Amino acid sequence: MYDHLTVVDHPLVQHKLTLMREESTPTSEFRRLLREISQLLAYEITRELPMTTKSITTPMQQMDAPTLAGRKLALVSILRAGNGLLDGVLELIPSARVGFVGLYRDEDTLEPVEYYFKVPEHMDERLVIAVDPMLATGNSSVAAIDMLKKSGAKNIRFLCLLAAPEGVARMKEAHPDVPIVTASLDERLNEKGYIVPGLGDAGDRMFGTK
Ligand code: URA
Repeated sequence: MYDHLTVVDHPLVQHKLTLMREESTPTSEFRRLLREISQLLAYEITRELPMTTKSITTPMQQMDAPTLAGRKLALVSILRAGNGLLDGVLELIPSARVGFVGLYRDEDTLEPVEYYFKVPEHMDERLVIAVDPMLATGNSSVAAIDMLKKSGAKNIRFLCLLAAPEGVARMKEAHPDVPIVTASLDERLNEKGYIVPGLGDAGDRMFGTK
C-alpha cells in the first residue's frame, strides 16, 4: 500500500520501541533507547548509498577497497525532537554535515510555523536525511521537505521512529520521491494530532519537559 515506506521490523528495534512506548520509562532511558534505535534505523536508510573503491595498503598487500562515494551526506534535524534521532545517527556517520529546520506545531490549527533554517552548502549534491521521531499529520514533515527542496536538495530520505497512516499518505501526496524509514506504522491519529498508540510527546519524553 505504501511503497515509499519501509518499516524496520528487526527484533532489536521492536523490543527497544516497546520499552520506549511504556509510560513508566524514565527520560534517561528513553533517550538512550532512542539513540540506539536511531542507529539501527540509520543502518537501514543508508543501505543503498553509492559506493566506489580506493586503493589502500593493508599490512599484507595493496587492494582496491570499497568506500562511500560522493559528497558527505547531510543530516537535517527537524527541531526539537529531531535532535534525539540526530545524535544516534551522527555516531554512526560522524562525517555527515548537519542542518536544522525549526518548525513548531500550532496546537489549534496543527499547521507548522517556521522559526529557523540552516543547512550545509551544496545540498543539491548530497544525500539528505531528514530526521523527526514522529510522522503524525505530516504537516511539519511536508513543510520541512519543501524547505529542503527550496535549498536545492534533490535526493532526500525521511527517518522517523513512528508514523501514522495519515502522515505517510500526506508525505506520499506531497513528496512521492522521498522514501520513509520508520520503526512502526501505528494505527491512527487522535483528535489532537497525536499518534495512537504512539508514545506521547516525543520531545517532552526525551527532554523531560511537560
Ligand atoms: N508529535 C509527538 O511528539 N507525538 C505525537 O504523537 C505526534 C506528534
